[in-house]
Amino acid sequence: MKIQGIILAAGAGTRMKSDIPKVLHKVCGETMLDHVINSAIDAGVSECIAIIGHGADKVKQTLNEDVKIAMQHEQLGTGHAVQMAFDQINDEGIVLLLCGDGPLVTANTLENIIDFHKKQKNAATVLSTELQNAFGYGRIVRTNNQELEGIVEEKDATNEQKEIKEVNSGIYCFDAKALKHTLPLLQNNNAQKEYYLTDTLTILKNENKKVGVYKINDYEDIMAVNSRIQLAEVEKIMRKRINEYHMNNGVTIIDPSNTYIEKQVQIGSDTIVYPNVILKGETVIGKACIIGHNSRIENAEIDNNVEVQNSTIIDSRVESGTTIGPYAYLRPKAHIGQNVKIGDFVEVKNAKIGNNSKASHLAYIGDAEVGENVNIGCGVVFVNYDGKNKYKTIVEDNAFIGSNSNLVAPVRVEASGYVASGSTITKDVTTGSLGIERGKQKNIDGWVERKNKGRK
Ligand code: UD1
Ligand code: CA
Repeated sequence: MKIQGIILAAGAGTRMKSDIPKVLHKVCGETMLDHVINSAIDAGVSECIAIIGHGADKVKQTLNEDVKIAMQHEQLGTGHAVQMAFDQINDEGIVLLLCGDGPLVTANTLENIIDFHKKQKNAATVLSTELQNAFGYGRIVRTNNQELEGIVEEKDATNEQKEIKEVNSGIYCFDAKALKHTLPLLQNNNAQKEYYLTDTLTILKNENKKVGVYKINDYEDIMAVNSRIQLAEVEKIMRKRINEYHMNNGVTIIDPSNTYIEKQVQIGSDTIVYPNVILKGETVIGKACIIGHNSRIENAEIDNNVEVQNSTIIDSRVESGTTIGPYAYLRPKAHIGQNVKIGDFVEVKNAKIGNNSKASHLAYIGDAEVGENVNIGCGVVFVNYDGKNKYKTIVEDNAFIGSNSNLVAPVRVEASGYVASGSTITKDVTTGSLGIERGKQKNIDGWVERKNKGRK
């Protein structure tokens, strides 16, 4: 049976006090709307319709092309929002309805409600849970024999109904035909003068159609974000879930409450992640790595047995057995080979560094190709920029670049070439030769004694 997903995402999110539409606020690196869409797709939804209104242009830009869109220009209620998608709703199959501001819902929970809905052969099923503080939510009102009587909004509820702890999650399964039948029948005679989606359930019930409640214990799944405080709460729960996923896969996380890993990140087993590490984007980390405290790694590929200490790595690749840091900075397109040492205060950008090479301290390596077994001394600068253009430096295998030298690009140090420390190299250094460019040293005899006498 085909399952269509409809995601309500047109609301203003006034309490966020933001220029960004609410559903575009990010949780663990991904927009809330994307989290919801991804869970829906993982649960077997074959097509999603997002209902958008506030900040529609911005929302559209973030959506995949295969997500359909329905515009709700005026926010006249959740039922009105779904009416805007009427023509796009299939005539057959199941519709799964979701809220774009509930990013914690898991594919597993959605699969369960779909299963329940199918098995019960319901016309509509609502997902509910019990909350200690149900304020603000629609309450599930049940009949004496525990069937659903209806859903009452906080603003319409009697004092007695306000005591009910079971709440509407805002997630529903509908028989598509039943949904399309009830949508035109909604009215707005309630406290908020809104067209409530929840009224569709009462309408179906009054027509003797089967309407059910699927109740879950895990309230975290349905938490909605209406404020920055709730955004932080949801972020914390998502972060815990992500960290637990990695720990269950064999990753050691020393202090999970201070480790920030985005959803797409992959980490191999026996890797140890120290506190205050931030792993972002499409980062893939191999097995048995050590990711030391305060490291930030974004969209990087780190192979097995790599040690990173207190360093920043962005859009780069590091091969196995290599050590990075402390205090190294790998900028986009750094590609570091195997068993390399990139030490403290070394910056690498758009440069490939071959296996077994070393840049142990204080160097800038930009726009370069460095071969294998090369030693880059302390304080070496690859001078790649003349104020207008950038040029490339090539350092071939087994070369030695002495400390405090400048390689002024475009320039090449051929295999086994040796650059004397303190040289500013502007011409190629040929294979096996010494490139030296500095004044000759002379020692002036007795100079210190003469200087001291003069002072007296
Ligand atoms: C709604 C439910 C309530 C439920 C709660 C769960 C109704 C009448 N009430 O209440 O029973 O407990 O969600 O969080 O359905 N939206 C639109 N267009 C609109 C109005 C809302 O797209 O015209 C979207 C919002 O962007 C949001 C979602 O629908 O993503 C829920 O809207 P919100 O106003 O937060 O609903 P509640 O009043 O909290
Ligand atoms: Ca509302």
